[in-house]
Parts: sequence; C-alpha cells; structure tokens
Amino acid sequence: MSTLEAIGGAAASGTLYGIGVGPGDVRYMTLRAASLVGAVDVIAYFAKAGREGHARRIVAPLMASDRPEEKLEYPVTDEFPVADPRYHEPIAEFYREAAERLAKHLAAGRSVGLLAEGDPFFFGSFMHMWHRLADRFPVEVVPGVTGMSGCWTRANTPITWGDDTLTVLAGTLDEAVLTRRLQDTEAAVIMKVGRNLAKVRRAVEAARCLDRAIYIERGTMEGERIVPLSEMTDPSGPYFAIVLVPGRGRRL
Ligand SMILES: C[S@@+](CC[C@H](N)C(=O)[O-])C[C@H]1O[C@@H](n2cnc3c(N)ncnc32)[C@H](O)[C@@H]1O
Repeated sequence: MSTLEAIGGAAASGTLYGIGVGPGDVRYMTLRAASLVGAVDVIAYFAKAGREGHARRIVAPLMASDRPEEKLEYPVTDEFPVADPRYHEPIAEFYREAAERLAKHLAAGRSVGLLAEGDPFFFGSFMHMWHRLADRFPVEVVPGVTGMSGCWTRANTPITWGDDTLTVLAGTLDEAVLTRRLQDTEAAVIMKVGRNLAKVRRAVEAARCLDRAIYIERGTMEGERIVPLSEMTDPSGPYFAIVLVPGRGRRL
C-alpha cells in the first residue's frame, strides 16, 4: 500500500463520494481526494457536451486507464438564462437521469466518485446529485480548495483583514443589485464572470472599487491570466473567470 493510500483511505462499496478536486492545479487536491480517485469503482463527472470536462482534466494524471467512467454531459449550459424554461426544463430532466445512472452503480454495490471542481458544496453541480441521492445511499463529501481561494493565492492578494465582511456574488445578478451589494461590503468575490464581464466591470466601477479589483481567468490552470480589472476591456471572458475585490481592513 502506498503512503497516499494509507493516509488517504479506501472507498466503501455502494457509497457516493463527492470529490472536491480543487481549483485546477492537481497538486492542490487533498490527500483524501487523490486517494479516492484511485480507489473508487467508478469515476463520474459533469462536462459540457463534446468536451473533456474540467474536473476530469484536473485528475487526469491520477486516473487509471481502465477505470470505468460515467460522463454526464449537460444538454445546455449558458445558452439561456437560468430562469428560462429552455434552460431549466432540460437541465432538471438531465439531473434526474444522471442521478439514476449513478444510483444503478450504487445499488449494485459499486462506489462512485463524482468529481467536483473546487469544493463540492460551493456552487457545485454535485449538489444536485447529493440532493437526489443522499437519503438513498451513503454519501461522503471531500472538501476541496475553492476556485476563489486558488485565485487570491495566485494573485498574491490577502482577501480579508480584521473585521472585513466578504460577500460572494454571482456575475449573473442584475447590474443594480451587484452595485448595491458591492457598496455594502468591504471585500467581494464575483463568480461566474465569463459572459457577464462587461456588466461586472460597470458595477465594480459604479461601486467605486475598480482601483483595487483584480480579474483572474483560469486561476492555477494552464493559461492563467491575472490583471487589474481596470485594464480588462474584453466584453467577456471564459467560464473560469472571477473578480476579486480585496478588503482593506485593520492591518497591524
Ligand atoms: C459553478 S462555480 C463552481 C465553483 C467551485 N465549486 C468552487 O469551489 O470554486 C464556477 C465558477 O467558479 C469560478 N472559478 C472556479 N474555479 C476557478 C478558477 N480556477 N479560476 C477562475 N475562476 C474560477 C468561476 O467564476 C466559475 O464561473
């Protein structure tokens, strides 16, 4: 048994594992997560149709070539707003079917490791499986380093000092709501920036925090880019894009 297996532990039959794979760099995975990738009977992951899947790519160096895999391909991603029936109807049906695919393995006694970027319980699709399966099968969630944590680390920027309040916002929010929330906090993380980049930038500027806001795409991954938001004139960014507004609280 390797040191990783001895410390990281084994997988139990018929158990669903939500495996947090961290922000992108495989070296930021926990020992438990890395060990489970090698130990579970089936590896499952979400992916945009026709793509490899970000979480699957992160764990590629740890994967055994003969490990059975369940690729769960989203029927839609960001083509329509979340409230649009063209988004939520197919996606609800997809989650139902995906949960049943995983349930078949679990009912047959196989352990399933469902990969989740960052932390599974932080804006993760894993939660839609947890919600459907946790009362039917044993579930263990392995926490992961969140994308935002990887990003502020790579930007070499402390995010909160002293009594600072940190607000986590979704870039999909309405511009006026974003502005108001930013005005009302000391530090902020804006997730899901991608297609919302121009709107996010306007809100950050209106809230008078553009001078300290940082734009990061693909933090800790290949193709990482870290620039002051004030220099970002592109109308949109990739899926993995985040904006940080560091706090300026008490410094001793
Ligand atoms: C659906 S959320 C998933 C969050 C994930 N569960 C976590 O713990 O970070 C996806 C959003 O997280 C942000 N994100 C996650 N990882 C990132 C990274 N490595 N670089 C930049 N943004 C990232 C982006 O804003 C992206 O749109």
